[in-house]
Amino acid sequence: MSIQTPKIEKKVTLNTIAKMKGTEPITMVTAYDALFAQLFDGEVEMILVGDSLNMSFLGKEDTLSATMDQMIYHTQAVCNGAKLPLIVLDMPFGSYSTVEDAIHNATRAYQETNAQAVKIEGGKERASIVKALTQNSIAVLGHIGLMPQFLRSDGGYKIRGKTPEDIHALVEDAQALEAAGAFAIVVEGVKVEAALAITKAVSIPTIGIGAGNVTDGQVLVWSDMFGFFEAFRPKFVKQYMDGAKQIRQGLALFRDEVKERTFPSEAYSY
Ligand code: KIV
Repeated sequence: MSIQTPKIEKKVTLNTIAKMKGTEPITMVTAYDALFAQLFDGEVEMILVGDSLNMSFLGKEDTLSATMDQMIYHTQAVCNGAKLPLIVLDMPFGSYSTVEDAIHNATRAYQETNAQAVKIEGGKERASIVKALTQNSIAVLGHIGLMPQFLRSDGGYKIRGKTPEDIHALVEDAQALEAAGAFAIVVEGVKVEAALAITKAVSIPTIGIGAGNVTDGQVLVWSDMFGFFEAFRPKFVKQYMDGAKQIRQGLALFRDEVKERTFPSEAYSY
């Protein structure tokens, strides 16, 4: 495997991301702790401390019970580990239901962590909240299409953009978020045609997940892309390594060596 793209050497800012639209695809992964954030430092432009941690790291069935305290704790850890990427704290369900809550909680995100932006799920119905945040100097990453925080009210994870009407609604959502001051938009679980229409309709970058290769960037959940999360695998997840298998192999070797008393050998003893 030959790696051709250079590592990122300078701190990524909102300006860097804005300039990348139409010039260079943006890479983003999730991270939840300092250890992995350090590994991702210099490898991707953006890190999302996603509320997906509620599933991949807390073993919950969905993201809905994630709390602001939890997101702050994990974002602090990620900020300790990664210095170069633009770090985004994912606002959990219920933390931005009103303008007051949104400002209060996003202010906590800025004051208690070094995150450079927050992420909010929702389209035009959330534009007033995004506007209130951006007017209060808080950078916002939008999130439209399949929105995991809407799981229960939508009755499941639903792929969007299957009809011209729905594509039109998604385009309107994206335009409303851009007008409200969002610096970029995550576009999740939409048909490729819809992702293309959204990407063409706005001048801010779109970051796709399950949206084909027509968006301005791509985001994946790290535990999915490296094969650690085994509960289910959505179609859009490409596994870049078989993490769970490798861990089990390592543990089996450790178990064998301990049982056989070949570990620790002299080399690992004082
Ligand atoms: O929480 C998360 O990890 C996300 C990504 C799926 C974009 O919102």
